[in-house]
Amino acid sequence: MTKDRPSSPPSPSTETLAVHGGEPRRHEFDALAAPIVQTATYTFRDTAELVAFFEGRTEREEEYGRYGNPTVRLVETKVAALEGAEDGIAFASGMAAVTTAILALVQSGSHVVLFADCYRRTRQFVTKFLDRFGVTSTLVSDLDELRAALRPETKLVIGEAPTNPYQSVPDLRELAAICRERRVKTLVDATFATPVNLRALEHGIDLVLHSATKYLAGHNDVLGGVLVGKSGLVSIVRDLRHVLGGVLDPHAAYLIHRGIKSLAVRVKQQNTSALAIAQALEGHRRVRRVWYPGLPSHPSHTVARELMSGFGGVVTFELDADLDGTSRFVDACAIPRIAPSLGGVESLIEQPALMSYFELTTEQRAAVGISNSLVRYAVGIEDTDELIADLLRALDATS
Ligand SMILES: Cc1ncc(COP(=O)(O)O)c(C=O)c1O
Repeated sequence: MTKDRPSSPPSPSTETLAVHGGEPRRHEFDALAAPIVQTATYTFRDTAELVAFFEGRTEREEEYGRYGNPTVRLVETKVAALEGAEDGIAFASGMAAVTTAILALVQSGSHVVLFADCYRRTRQFVTKFLDRFGVTSTLVSDLDELRAALRPETKLVIGEAPTNPYQSVPDLRELAAICRERRVKTLVDATFATPVNLRALEHGIDLVLHSATKYLAGHNDVLGGVLVGKSGLVSIVRDLRHVLGGVLDPHAAYLIHRGIKSLAVRVKQQNTSALAIAQALEGHRRVRRVWYPGLPSHPSHTVARELMSGFGGVVTFELDADLDGTSRFVDACAIPRIAPSLGGVESLIEQPALMSYFELTTEQRAAVGISNSLVRYAVGIEDTDELIADLLRALDATS
């Protein structure tokens, strides 16, 4: 990539950063769009150039595809710019980011604290895999439990903001302060928030992680993950990525980079629609409860208002219906598609009891706080009024 003057004004908005941040003003061949550098390896002119590279005497960055790629680098620097981070590192998926980051920051004998209200695969990794390697963990549900759980050997605290599916937002300022005092690193999965709505590093968090599969890429057509933070910490994780190999493919990087260009406008539209949908559902005779941090009734509303500039695109609600009645409602919605995932341009709807929690019995689901009549609606960028009309019609049609 051509190195050139920076492409953004000194304190750009998220909108401007999404389009121009973290990339050179001019790309190779003066192409406006970033080229895809689709290569597995990089050549050296001669042995002298190779030796100069290994001795750090050249500006050149690339050697082999697992260690870096210019198109992937653009995703890393753009997300770092959006989050106000010193550096970033991209992965083949959100879970590659989660697992590589955690493994890089612990060793046998370490202890990890995880907020229990989190993506179930993250919980599975921490509770079922880490202990095989002598890393213990404690699940907590609030900051008091966090304080009590910290031990001298605690190396890392992992949380999400907002969480899935109930969209809790822990007070990250307090969380960061508690951990800083005990010299424990903090990692927050901010996939649901995006840097448009929340910049967790500004609240003292050490590392912020995104499943780029969701809002960052935004089109439900690619998997990826990104981790950002201080250069020293990110480089520890990068060293392990070089070994574990969960690297982002250049073509996928191109799609994510292109997707991020419209991140701010998409997320703002999703914020607007989700809030309107949450308001339309709250108080509806067929809806028992709505969880959306933008509603004053949500337990995290005050914290969310203080930390976030928008409340996100996911609305969770419980119908006054049983499992089958809820399925009939989901099937009656004409606009959203039934699928896992969130954050893309298409609205997606799912009944967690029949998706992530399918293998559990009703009683087991209840024990983990998932009722059969729970619905998760991940709002896309379709027209707000049409989305609401569709939901209300489906509620009426299946009462
Ligand atoms: C909050 C959160 N973090 C991480 C992940 C994992 O991301 P990926 O599917 O890109 O591996 C997901 C996936 O749904 C998620 O919802």
